[in-house]
Amino acid sequence: MWLWEAVRVASRHEMPATVVLGAQWGDEGKGRVVDYFAESADFVVRYQGGNNAGHTIVVGDEKLALSLIPSGILYPDCTPVIASGTVIDPKVLLDEMDMTMSRGLDPSRVKLSSNAHLIMPYHRKLDAAIERYLGKNRIGTTKKGIGPTYTDKYARVGIRVQDLFDPKIFRKKVEAALEDKNKLLPRIYNTLPMDPDEIIDEYREYADRLEPHVADTSLLLFNGLREGKQVLLEGAQGTLLDIDHGTYPFVTSSNPTAGGAAVGSGIGPKSLDEIIGVAKAYISRVGTGPFPTELHDEVGDRMIELGGEYGTVTGRRRRCGWLDLVALRYSNRVNSFTKLFITKLDILSAFETIKVANAYQSAGEIHDEFPVQQSVLYNCEPQYEELPGWETDITAVRTFSDLPKEAQRYVRYIEERVEVPIGWISVGPERSQLVEVT
Ligand code: GDP
Ligand code: IMO
Ligand code: MG
Repeated sequence: MWLWEAVRVASRHEMPATVVLGAQWGDEGKGRVVDYFAESADFVVRYQGGNNAGHTIVVGDEKLALSLIPSGILYPDCTPVIASGTVIDPKVLLDEMDMTMSRGLDPSRVKLSSNAHLIMPYHRKLDAAIERYLGKNRIGTTKKGIGPTYTDKYARVGIRVQDLFDPKIFRKKVEAALEDKNKLLPRIYNTLPMDPDEIIDEYREYADRLEPHVADTSLLLFNGLREGKQVLLEGAQGTLLDIDHGTYPFVTSSNPTAGGAAVGSGIGPKSLDEIIGVAKAYISRVGTGPFPTELHDEVGDRMIELGGEYGTVTGRRRRCGWLDLVALRYSNRVNSFTKLFITKLDILSAFETIKVANAYQSAGEIHDEFPVQQSVLYNCEPQYEELPGWETDITAVRTFSDLPKEAQRYVRYIEERVEVPIGWISVGPERSQLVEVT
């Protein structure tokens, strides 16, 4: 009897976890949104992806760009966790720890899952070589080795963080991996083979520095939830870049969607309570692939310039277009959002009228739902509704009722069409430039 009583007491204290994830093609402003919620979080967890992500946080005049360390690093009482669904380039992680330390933050709290997979030098090399090989069919990856690392993970020949601490096993795995890669690199991709000893020596140094951070992060979070601690899960990339639900093959190699948060962090799906979708007030994409509302005119150019739409990781110019509600409704379908957070509303202040896509037309047919057939997505014409703009600076607004009526209408319009309540809007990159919607 006492056992059941203990179970009941434990579950009574369990606090649910909150997921914050991108509802579009990435760069929605997840970093700043996570920073907002992290103030009350005990753990902020990255559950997938690697240093293909670039999350920007602006506090006062200071700007912090993070690619691997979760955005909770800014709060001294918050533990940043890099969970098992991620892929880690150890040098990038260590450099980012040094960078945060030089900015007065404390990276000693970072916890790294012993099950996370390691990005190896041959993964980076293969990423670049495969892109070259694909030519005009390339994905436009970040060339950080993400795809090849996940490929090895699923082929069950990947190398995990824990392998760093067993030199014999580590050597065996590197040599085994290079056996076929050293054939592929010169024969197929016309590039030089790699020396296992060099890699082993390099990674030995990383092992010593990473060891104090390595943990069973699934257990850490499980116990945290039981003790009533707040867990915030930070998605990288976005729903339309999801390997299963995105615009395949023009996607990343992991699951940013809400289900991926449970799998990648090692906590059960019933522990996920709030699922907050982050969407820009317009939309952007980096890399290749279909993009129905993309603008190739001066309106698109203005969005890029005013929105500072240049990649945090690669510096590439992002492609921009009007908000796509077909895609946003789809994003809600695969994520079950409890709320939306709309970012960068201030950028739309520049436009006299604002368009939103409600449907696509392809071969005379109207598509209200996101098409499963990629060719439809490539060839469709978005069906736009035009809403009046507000053409007023809104960057100093802090309450919803102080927004111009047209801006309020735009927000309500999105809410009605997507059928998810909008909880917050941001009106500038700085931490305080935010409006809570009541
Ligand atoms: P993430 O990858 O989703 O974290 O987004 P990024 O950091 O790559 O890109 C978002 C960019 O928009 C960053 O430069 C942010 O500082 C900036 N940003 C975020 N929210 C706002 C906003 O409300 N208004 C403006 N003007 N910029 C914003
Ligand atoms: P955050 O977290 C936007 C895109 C790349 C490419 C595709 C595959 O900052 O939103 P990869 O290197 O992952 O194999 O590239 O995915 N991509 C992103 N686009 N934001 C990101 O991250 C991205 N991470 C990857 O441009 O099209
Ligand atoms: Mg980004």
